[in-house]
Amino acid sequence: MSAFIEITNLSKSFQMGEATVHALAGVSLTIEQNAFCLIMGPSGSGKSTLLYLLGGLDRPTSGSIQINGLEMTALDENALARFRQKTMGFVFQSFNLIPSASALDNVAFPARFARMSARERKSRGLELLERVKLLDRAYHKPSELSGGQQQRVAIARALINRPTLILADEPTGNLDTASGESIMALLQELHTEGATVIIVSHDPRLTAYATQIVQILDGKITPESL
Ligand SMILES: Nc1ncnc2c1ncn2[C@@H]1O[C@H](COP(=O)(O)OP(=O)(O)O)[C@@H](O)[C@H]1O
Ligand SMILES: [Mg+2]
Repeated sequence: MSAFIEITNLSKSFQMGEATVHALAGVSLTIEQNAFCLIMGPSGSGKSTLLYLLGGLDRPTSGSIQINGLEMTALDENALARFRQKTMGFVFQSFNLIPSASALDNVAFPARFARMSARERKSRGLELLERVKLLDRAYHKPSELSGGQQQRVAIARALINRPTLILADEPTGNLDTASGESIMALLQELHTEGATVIIVSHDPRLTAYATQIVQILDGKITPESL
């Protein structure tokens, strides 16, 4: 049986005027089902780029990403969007919440594309807000919530379609210690329940939770981390 995620020789370059930035320069990595994989590295090392490619939010310049045997780079936009929606929950560093929508509407939003009825969306949204301990903030807007609360809303939103793969970009990066710890506890719980969790971070506290730690530097996985 092949691994859950198989990344082979993955590269991503950005053209910036005259200069070419090699954000990823030939990354190969295997991640097993139900791993809690922590990708660490300094700022600018290519962590977010790698996660975006894994999440199908951007396309590689070259190389391959297979998830569950499916070649992501071969999917067209529609197929990629469907796969993403069925399989993945993405937690962004900057939360990316809709400012004018309530916490509940933010959480339920991705379910609009998943043929869930309005009633079901609402009940599942409330259930997830309860899970992240924000039921009493269901009708608050993001601006009325703290950073930690906004990140918990973002995690609840990532869970609405019951993903088996959770991708999080520095989920504790913008948070105080206590909020960071509650986010980590939540991610660990999801892992225990069977999800594969991939987190990009330079927060050393997260190493305690990881089943796999990968170091990335200048767009390459450092050999000693494999
Ligand atoms: N959209 C983009 N356009 C141009 N350069 C980019 C873009 N995204 C990332 N980069 C560059 O690629 C490198 C890796 O960036 P990134 O993946 O965001 O690193 P990290 O998340 O580890 O801080 C950096 O040099 C960054 O400036
Ligand atoms: Mg980043």
